[in-house]
Amino acid sequence: MCGIVAYIGAKKARPLLIEGLKRLEYRGYDSAGIGILSDEFGLEVAKSVGRVSHLENRLKELGGFDGSIGLAHTRWATHGGVTEANAHPHRDDKAGICLVHNGIIENHSALRKYLMERGHTFHSETDTEVLAMLIGELYDPENGTDLEAAVQTALREVKGAYAIAVICENEPGVMVCARKGSPLLVGVGNEEFIVASDASAIVAHTTQAFMLDDYNVVKITREGFRTSTVDNVEIMPKVTELEYELEQIELGGFSHFMQKEIFEQPASLRTTLGGRIDHNEGKVVLGGLAQFAKELVKAKRIILTGQGTALHASMIGEYLMEDIAKIPTECEYASEFRYRNPIVEDGTVVIAVSQSGETADTIAALREAKDKGALSVGVVNVVGSSIARETDMGVYLRVGPEIGVASTKAFTGQVTVLTLIALFMGRRRVTSPERCARIMNALDAVPDKIEQILATNDEIRRITERYVERNNWLFLGRGYNYPTAMEGALKLKEISYIHAEGMPAAEMKHGPIALIDEGMPAVFIANKGSQYDKVISNIEEVRSRGGHVIAIATEGDEEIRSVAEEVIYVPGCPEPISPLLTVVPLQLMAYHAAVLRGHDVDKPRNLAKSVTVE
Ligand code: F6R
Repeated sequence: MCGIVAYIGAKKARPLLIEGLKRLEYRGYDSAGIGILSDEFGLEVAKSVGRVSHLENRLKELGGFDGSIGLAHTRWATHGGVTEANAHPHRDDKAGICLVHNGIIENHSALRKYLMERGHTFHSETDTEVLAMLIGELYDPENGTDLEAAVQTALREVKGAYAIAVICENEPGVMVCARKGSPLLVGVGNEEFIVASDASAIVAHTTQAFMLDDYNVVKITREGFRTSTVDNVEIMPKVTELEYELEQIELGGFSHFMQKEIFEQPASLRTTLGGRIDHNEGKVVLGGLAQFAKELVKAKRIILTGQGTALHASMIGEYLMEDIAKIPTECEYASEFRYRNPIVEDGTVVIAVSQSGETADTIAALREAKDKGALSVGVVNVVGSSIARETDMGVYLRVGPEIGVASTKAFTGQVTVLTLIALFMGRRRVTSPERCARIMNALDAVPDKIEQILATNDEIRRITERYVERNNWLFLGRGYNYPTAMEGALKLKEISYIHAEGMPAAEMKHGPIALIDEGMPAVFIANKGSQYDKVISNIEEVRSRGGHVIAIATEGDEEIRSVAEEVIYVPGCPEPISPLLTVVPLQLMAYHAAVLRGHDVDKPRNLAKSVTVE
């Protein structure tokens, strides 16, 4: 969603901010803007609808924008349409305030009314302009309310979520930033500071950084910084090393980040698994859970929650927890769970699954469960993210930054971690050492098996090409691979804009079978497993109505060729592990379909990488 990058130091801010905005493009946005302060030109602001490259071109035409302090933003519209007027930065009309903002100011209407009564005129429909005006209204340096104090006072009046960076014409060497609910990192360089909503905009310049906590305000000058709460109580943040390599956020020879991340999965899963399986002891080692092992083992019920791809991983988690750990488990959209006043009894464990750790609905569902007494576990990729901080314990995915908007390596990381958690609890409860050992060995073999699937990429592209003009697809699976079918459909629709539905194969007969006509592609996940014969019957039902079947099958299964037009093979493995393999051809099919249809895979229309509003 929206992205912030801001700079204060000795270098020219403009190229640095534009480069930072380009690194944030993957988050999804529809307009961009920049504000720079310089001795020669004062405060200059430029905005543009569309790509960051449009903004860059406009700046070249304009000239100026020469200073060493500035801020920039990519906006994903929430309040007000996609227009230049609504793009950030926003300014006030009195004190020379210039501000960028991620999040939503919930009481913006009341504040706008108050400010209009005090004579302010608004030029946009945004909640952000309200905040800029409020800070300007409060700014009164002669009576002790400098920029830092004005920001603190304004934020005490604000309800909602924010990450902000603010500069002021009257204090040209100062930047003030603050956070509540939306992430904001301060990169600490050599007499320079780069503030961003995402580490990817910082790491090219410094790997030393600190994350602002909720209700924290930081005043930055070239010489240093002071951090306080909105009530002006001074605090000392801890500067740490960002665990980010520059090559992790660059394409490195691939055409798209999604493609790179699909191919990275053998390596990323080796890192996810690294040191977490102790074959000698026959145990899973999860340091993040160790302290709560006793409570987890006694859990009476597990609730898994997330959104989108993370929900599909959670659905597989539901099968894993019941099958391996034998604990009653439910999986639910975070957006539904948070509002339905759910019953959370004693002994409930909530597992929040999220790549970013910043999904608004997942955070709210987690808080709802915690307020009602659940013990909470985070299954998160981004270190230090909101979910990681708010859960009692957690297991990081360790798959590295995911830049592709369509989630791929995070999904396999989430399923792997959920399998490890199920083994961690199952081994301490009821699951035999032999069964645990079989699953642990199978997990260890997954990276090599994914490599074998990736080697068939050309064949998967050729199969996709044969069907890419079709506008409606079905994805069908049973048991562990019903959620995989849902994930296959989601991948295809989000980047190729082809209509696709994923569902349990048996559900097809209860209605969706009416959709099947001559040549409609139906992708069946038909690996060898307990429901293989049933899946074959479902395939026959599609074939007899003229549908075209693409089967994801287990290596060595020749029988399936008699019922499916196309077969993509994956290596055999125990059923609980199978989604980690069967999903890979589906990711590749979605990728190829999008490329063949000429879409920008890493910037799918209307989508944002991290959905930080509900
Ligand atoms: C789909 C996708 C989304 C996310 C969802 C949750 O490819 O990426 O469906 O999975 O928005 O995001 P996180 O995992 O960051 O909570």
